[in-house]
Amino acid sequence: MSNIVILTGAGISAESGLGTFRDEGGLWAQHRIEDVATPEGYARNPQLVTDFYNARRAQAATATPNAAHRALVKLETAHVGAVTIVTQNVDGLHEQAGSQSVIHMHGELAGALCARCDHRWPATGDMVPDDICPKCKASAGRPDIVWFGEMPYHMERIEQLLSQADLFVSIGTSGNVYPAAGFVQAARAYGAATLELNLEPSEGASLFDDTRLGPATQIVPNWVSEVLAQ
Ligand code: APR
Ligand code: ZN
Repeated sequence: MSNIVILTGAGISAESGLGTFRDEGGLWAQHRIEDVATPEGYARNPQLVTDFYNARRAQAATATPNAAHRALVKLETAHVGAVTIVTQNVDGLHEQAGSQSVIHMHGELAGALCARCDHRWPATGDMVPDDICPKCKASAGRPDIVWFGEMPYHMERIEQLLSQADLFVSIGTSGNVYPAAGFVQAARAYGAATLELNLEPSEGASLFDDTRLGPATQIVPNWVSEVLAQ
């Protein structure tokens, strides 16, 4: 019975048409992180930040899951042990593909958060800055996204999953941003085998027992077929 923990990043959604952050022409080549992905940026210009996430939410709404997302659903369904996806992505493509066990450590475009009372509500269309919270009525609504300098969500649960993992797989992430970039070290320390599936070697490539390079829509289904054939 092997428990598999899978960390995904923007690269798994690239072939669904959603931009990554650090590839050529990626999101951080078009926007300054400090302007659109920090609490200070939001305080300075809430409309700019709201527009940025409205644009990404609209784009994500037109994207569809690709063969890599679907392969992870097949794995979760057919694998005897537990399969849990910890995603850095804020799109909903894992859920749209049918994955049941998904943890969004950086939040979700489909959610709004009250900065005053922590109430959350669905954000399906465009948000407005400092939206009125349906619960406490404060004008404190913001995108439910974890910005740089903020604590990622579900870290205790993620640590517990890593401690029980037999296999840790990283898919489509450059390994630039912590704490996600450190999960491979934690998994190794807990005795898990580690595998990287990516278009090119990530920052942490040397930390993985095994690395396979190529587009996620090819290497992820191939890997899943191998696991299920064991
Ligand atoms: N198939 C597989 N991997 C791909 C593909 C593809 N088709 N296209 C790109 N990649 C890989 C790139 O080689 C790169 O290593 O996906 C990775 C994308 O890296 P980033 O753009 O840095 O995205 P990510 O690692 O998810 O960023 C982590 O940084 O800005 C924050 O919060 C943001 O969650 C994000 C975090
Ligand atoms: Zn509130």
